[in-house]
Amino acid sequence: MMVGKFIAFEGGEGTGKSTQARLLVEYLQSQHIAAALTREPGGTEGAEAIRGLLLDPPGDGWGARAEALLFAAARSDHVEKLIKPRIARDEWVICDRYLDSSRAYQGGAGGVGDDAVLSLHEVGSSGLRPDLTILINVPPETVAERLAERDGDTSDAIGGRSAEYHAAVGTTFLDLAKGEPERFRVIDGDGTTADVHERVLSVLEPLLGKQA
Ligand code: TYD
Repeated sequence: MMVGKFIAFEGGEGTGKSTQARLLVEYLQSQHIAAALTREPGGTEGAEAIRGLLLDPPGDGWGARAEALLFAAARSDHVEKLIKPRIARDEWVICDRYLDSSRAYQGGAGGVGDDAVLSLHEVGSSGLRPDLTILINVPPETVAERLAERDGDTSDAIGGRSAEYHAAVGTTFLDLAKGEPERFRVIDGDGTTADVHERVLSVLEPLLGKQA
């Protein structure tokens, strides 16, 4: 019997998450497994509208707490209207960023704290966790090179924050992975897109085996 799974990709800026999420969905579909690609912030009409407010904020921008609330509100809509219904239909949902981005960016780097972010998630989304969270880890120097090529001077309100902020995001992600080793798989994001895709498939093998 087919069983729906919820897989999240996490990591800092320029770690290749979006490409890997897309390649995974293509792979699953090639295996005749129903799979949907989605992203955060976003994924539903309401959450995409909140994404606009977060990445291109009005006025002088959001404080860390307001930002955490907006991410939680966007996630609540996404979980309620897209993620849960798809899983209930036994589809796989592959999400480019999810809760752990809020824990790393707003909770760790933004100083809101992990307990507060988890409380918001409890209220907004009943605490829903992915079956597996794939953290793509890339050394900070490589990320700096990739971002210079990708963004030039045009990064958004969060991507454009200081190197210290992004370093804190990176260390918080690794701490979160250490704290929940059963849910996280940390994979090396250095190498070609095809190399990293193979690593993604290898950590998913146990879940794919259950599909038979
Ligand atoms: P996006 O363009 O999707 O970034 P990337 O390509 O790096 O994944 O923009 C999402 C931005 O929002 C990114 O800077 C990370 C940030 N973010 C948070 O700060 N908290 C969150 O909970 C989420 C989902 C994203």
